[in-house]
Amino acid sequence: LGSGALSGRRVVVTAGGTREALDPVRFLGNRSSGKQGVALAAAARDLGASVLLIAAHLEVPAPSGVELLNVTSARELQTAVEREVPGADVLIMAAAVADFRPAQYVASKMKKTDDVEAPELTLVRNPDILAGAVAARAAGEAAERGGWPDLIVGFAAETGDESHSVLDYARQKLARKGCDLLVVNEVGESKGFAADVNEVSILFASGAEPVRAAGSKDDVARAVTQAIADAL
Ligand code: C5P
Repeated sequence: LGSGALSGRRVVVTAGGTREALDPVRFLGNRSSGKQGVALAAAARDLGASVLLIAAHLEVPAPSGVELLNVTSARELQTAVEREVPGADVLIMAAAVADFRPAQYVASKMKKTDDVEAPELTLVRNPDILAGAVAARAAGEAAERGGWPDLIVGFAAETGDESHSVLDYARQKLARKGCDLLVVNEVGESKGFAADVNEVSILFASGAEPVRAAGSKDDVARAVTQAIADAL
């Protein structure tokens, strides 16, 4: 402690999958395990950072030695990010945020009775939390609370096709989201969601050469947090 590459730094990591409630017992969710985000929080801790993990649904335990804030939905995650991130040095958006939520929350459990037809589900868009943080920083918001982080890190899972490689699409996404680093996963059979191994490229808005990292999610987390420390 005190001597790591991130000592004295405040790092906020979001992880896990958001759940969007339909009624008191049902939700729309996703298959994110939270493993990569949890590994990132632990790796930042190991480099000496003060870490806050904002956790949506996790399939793995939160690491020790980090602060934990539990949230459920994308909008709760957004509120937590807006409240907790000003003053932090780094925001790592590893959470799998639902792009859509049910337009209406039904306060009592939807019942099935013989004479009731299947309900139609209407969805509305969720806010893009990463893009919101980038925009708030650009607008100079929260200056009195230390301002927005020097480094905002996004994640993306991409597939390539005949005309564009995964890296082509990732560069486009980096530019579109406006974040400083983008960690891109090549979507494959055994990689990504729930898997223990991962293969990523780390792209930099600065134009620095992408860094590739492969191995366990802990290995990838060490490579990403080292790249963050180098970029700060
Ligand atoms: O556009 P896409 O969903 O592929 O972008 C993924 C990145 O954006 C991740 O870092 C994710 O945490 C973030 N994101 C977000 N809010 C959303 C959707 C994604 O912050 N509503």
